Amino acid sequence: MITPVKFAVVGCGNIGSRHIAVVDSQENAVLNALCDIDPEKLTRYSSLYGDIPTYTSFDEMLEKSDVDVVNICTPHGLHAPMTIAAANHGKHVLVEKPMALTTREADEMIAAGERNNVRIMVVKQNRYNVPIALTKQALDSGKLGKIYMVLCNVLWNRHEGYYRDSSWRGSKELEGGALYTQVSHFIDLMIWWFGDVIQASSQIATLSHNIEIEDNGSARLVFESGVMGSLTWSTSVYNKNYEGSFTIIGENGTIKIGGQYLNKIDFWDVQSMPLPEDIAFVDKPNAYGGKYQGTSSNHDKVINEVVADLLNERHNTVEGNEGIKTIRAIEMIYGTQEGYPK
Ligand SMILES: NC(=O)c1ccc[n+]([C@@H]2O[C@H](COP(=O)([O-])OP(=O)(O)OC[C@H]3O[C@@H](n4cnc5c(N)ncnc54)[C@H](O)[C@@H]3O)[C@@H](O)[C@H]2O)c1
Repeated sequence: MITPVKFAVVGCGNIGSRHIAVVDSQENAVLNALCDIDPEKLTRYSSLYGDIPTYTSFDEMLEKSDVDVVNICTPHGLHAPMTIAAANHGKHVLVEKPMALTTREADEMIAAGERNNVRIMVVKQNRYNVPIALTKQALDSGKLGKIYMVLCNVLWNRHEGYYRDSSWRGSKELEGGALYTQVSHFIDLMIWWFGDVIQASSQIATLSHNIEIEDNGSARLVFESGVMGSLTWSTSVYNKNYEGSFTIIGENGTIKIGGQYLNKIDFWDVQSMPLPEDIAFVDKPNAYGGKYQGTSSNHDKVINEVVADLLNERHNTVEGNEGIKTIRAIEMIYGTQEGYPK
């Protein structure tokens, strides 16, 4: 592939607008097409970034635009059909998390990539957070010794308007559940560190919102490496996000990554690996116009790696065969519900 790598963004909403800004600022990338069913968003972003060609039809964009990569930033339920259509048109794909709503769909996406000889890459920007990358180093170097347990809390606020004002959030069919939206980042990281989820049991309930999906849940997990896990999630926290955290209990160390979005190290006691003194916690959250805050905004690093990968400079992207592991784990967690009294 030759520079600049040509991108299209489909879905110019909360996160699509971040993809647009990041591609625009990437040295070896160019934004050649925008697609959304909302013409107002197309006009806004096209004029902001220099009259980028716009399309209200995804099929038309695939037919007519000159692009190498399609960034899929639409609601979860559209990730699989749009990825498959883009791959069938010979386009590489960078799909937002969650990759899909079922492992069957994720399998079909991977197969479409292989059939058409294009890459299916998945956004996992939290892997670049400073505390997360440092923890990965500690784990990979064996400094923590045998890992016994990981505790994960995703305790966030999503106000009623977050669901009410969206055509797809809160819908069982289009969003699937909070594990797909808020928690999939955290599940990906635990799998990256400890291997596939091989056992799960869960409880979920809808306690504070008028929605079809759960807003509170907890699960006990076992990972391939034998690590025992506990996962607690809520979108019912009062007023604002409280915490997105991991605590790792190992033979030779304890780590707690905390902050609201995995942006701080709250505790670090690792044998022969002290916390570097000059560490800079630089990760910023994705902030959606004061409405709510998500996890880190390291999308610039994701796009940077996609460009470097397609230019054959290095290979650090997360591909479909990794993305599918999170979907499989989510299906397992939802599939093992113990029931919750009404
Ligand atoms: N990596 C992250 O941290 C992160 C953060 C936010 C969202 N996301 C993911 O990105 C996706 C979108 O989330 P969002 O918050 O931006 O949602 P959003 O509702 O703000 O944006 C979705 C956009 O898709 C457009 N759209 C819907 N149907 C379409 C179609 N058929 N063709 C073209 N455009 C269409 C909508 O008009 C809207 O502009 C979700 O899957 C979400 O999980 C990831």
